[in-house]
Amino acid sequence: MLRGSKVELRARHESDIPILQAELGDDVATFSRMNDQPWRPITPGSKDSPYVVDDKAQGSARFSVAELGGGMLVGSAGLWGIDDHNRSAHIGLGLLPSARGKGYGTDVVSVMCHYAFVVLGLQRLQIETLSDNVAMLRSAENNGFVREGVLRSSAWVMGEFLDEVLLGLLVQDWKPDPRG
Ligand SMILES: CC(C)(COP(=O)(O)OP(=O)(O)OC[C@H]1O[C@@H](n2cnc3c(N)ncnc32)[C@H](O)[C@@H]1OP(=O)(O)O)[C@@H](O)C(=O)NCCC(=O)NCCS
Repeated sequence: MLRGSKVELRARHESDIPILQAELGDDVATFSRMNDQPWRPITPGSKDSPYVVDDKAQGSARFSVAELGGGMLVGSAGLWGIDDHNRSAHIGLGLLPSARGKGYGTDVVSVMCHYAFVVLGLQRLQIETLSDNVAMLRSAENNGFVREGVLRSSAWVMGEFLDEVLLGLLVQDWKPDPRG
């Protein structure tokens, strides 16, 4: 388990899946903003839920996010596209609606940086997010990520093409616990 100042990142429990699916996966608007894939309904209990974790999957590490001290489940986070040759990866995260705006997103990014740079020994992290996702942009920037470019009209979201911002952080620029 990995601990931040507000949240902990732990393995996915079976009981997390229906909550994450209902509060994130079944919300068409949120899902469409978070994923490259089009939303589709998922049968309750299906192993096809994007929140089912395959422990054998290469190139990714996925966590459930809970309040510190074994508290309530508040979201899902992970590294994807882990590239052992270039020693880079991408961060993805989504918090339950009731958990947003409390500083958890900033803390999750901080913990993911620790995991990527200290535990895995990576040298570059990347985040892509919609250009209007202020909370995600700030959660990244609070941890030292810098805006490296705009991917114009790169995301088809609910009937329109939207821009994404690409943010990056190199290990040498990372300051653990930037707000500490
Ligand atoms: C994006 C997300 C992970 C951010 O986490 P969060 O816990 O809400 O963010 P924080 O509370 O750490 O806030 C970070 C900053 O954003 C600001 N912020 C938070 N919510 C905001 C909102 N709705 N509008 C504008 N600013 C907001 C905070 O004031 C804070 O600003 P500061 O750093 O200048 O003090 C979370 O909101 C979420 O899961 N959203 C839905 C899914 C999503 O968009 N995932 C990311 C896909 S790439």
